[in-house]
Amino acid sequence: MTEDIAALHDKREPERYALHTRHLNEQMVRVLRTIGYDVGFRRGKGQYLYDRNGERYLDLLSGFGVFALGRNHPTVREALKSVLDSELPNLVQMDVSVLAGVLAERLLARAPYLDKVFFANSGAEAVETAIKFARSATGRPGIVYCEHAFHGLSYGALSLNGDDIFRGGFEPLLPDCIRIPFNDLSALEQALHARNVAAFIVEPIQGKGVNLPADGYLQAAAELCRRYGTLFVADEIQTGLGRTGRFLAVEHWNVEPDMVLIAKSLSGGHVPVGAVLTRKRIFEKVFSRMDRAVVHGSTFSKNDLAMAAGIATLNVLASEALIENAARTGERLLGALAAMVPRYELLREVRGKGLMIGVEFGSPTSFKLKTSWNLIESTSKGLFCQLITIPLFKDHKILTQVAGHGSHTIKLLPALTLSDADCEWIVNAFDAVIAASHRVPGAAWSLGKTLVGHAMRAQN
Ligand SMILES: Cc1ncc(COP(=O)(O)O)c(C=O)c1O
Repeated sequence: MTEDIAALHDKREPERYALHTRHLNEQMVRVLRTIGYDVGFRRGKGQYLYDRNGERYLDLLSGFGVFALGRNHPTVREALKSVLDSELPNLVQMDVSVLAGVLAERLLARAPYLDKVFFANSGAEAVETAIKFARSATGRPGIVYCEHAFHGLSYGALSLNGDDIFRGGFEPLLPDCIRIPFNDLSALEQALHARNVAAFIVEPIQGKGVNLPADGYLQAAAELCRRYGTLFVADEIQTGLGRTGRFLAVEHWNVEPDMVLIAKSLSGGHVPVGAVLTRKRIFEKVFSRMDRAVVHGSTFSKNDLAMAAGIATLNVLASEALIENAARTGERLLGALAAMVPRYELLREVRGKGLMIGVEFGSPTSFKLKTSWNLIESTSKGLFCQLITIPLFKDHKILTQVAGHGSHTIKLLPALTLSDADCEWIVNAFDAVIAASHRVPGAAWSLGKTLVGHAMRAQN
């Protein structure tokens, strides 16, 4: 008997919190209950989610950036169905995959200075690969990474994590990993000087905080790496594939890394995937002889579903001009949101590129707001942002999230299919919610008091 999955989903949907409390991560359920996001999402289409009552939401998280094409894109679905319907041999292992060859060829056409691709199953696995490849290719142990960096949560990737909240409880991590401030070239040079660093791994725009590189930073960093024999690795897992209005974010600054890491939206969000685009000389050091042909790899990487979805994703990015759309709608959104900064004392800065945008709040100057701000921020740093994200969700049906622990920046990471009407939806909603947060007393600060109560109970 074939179980009807859609019917199963709908039947058990009301139990999902109970199921997770019992069998999965109970703390996540507590978080969701506290912020009151229990609307029961039943369907996803394009940039929208639909709850159990058929209400439409604009999703600015896009599954942490995997749904660049929007959810359930018909071309990706067709590609996946076609793989299954064709009964392709898939993962023969004592053969090489046709679709992986084609996807590699097409990815490298977008970064012609690179020659080889290694496929993985996730972003973190791509990062692990970069660490291993860099050490193998250079014979050096060191890896340099930045404060606030996020490269995934497996052990190697976690060793390059710039936020202590993720690291705590899991030490000791990989040795020889050196943390430097982002945008600090002299710290980088100091770290590279002893010539024992294999790679500098950096996000062109940091996801945690939406931190932009200073003009010339990435280019100068790449030059320093070249001077000291260190590989320059761009983690484009979040910024790549059109997110910032270019195929790769490094293109904004004319940088050609030795390795480019991509994942997330590469499969249109349907199948886990990751990829490392790199230079031939690096590959040849790792896979140097026939008996080393399998020194690095993974059972499921290069699987036909992921590869077919990747091919379809590249096709959709081109046929629907989504990279151009990201650049255009991103500029429009950035402009409209930045125009609010002078009007609101709690709004500090709006920054980003394409459809990766950070809206940063900061402590106010007026007495009334300052007292309220201090009350909630002294309970839990970054809590203020919940006074924005919760009403955005409940009153305006916009799903968004803070850009990191203790952060005052809300991140917008929508599908690249965002329309002008969606931009208007976002701008009007932010305007209304930010305006409300300036009214003391008011609903926003009452919510703040409730959240303070929850936070104090959680800490006890
Ligand atoms: C820049 C960056 N690198 C690596 C990762 C890890 O990817 P994954 O969650 O697929 O392991 C992420 C995930 O958010 C990311 O944003």
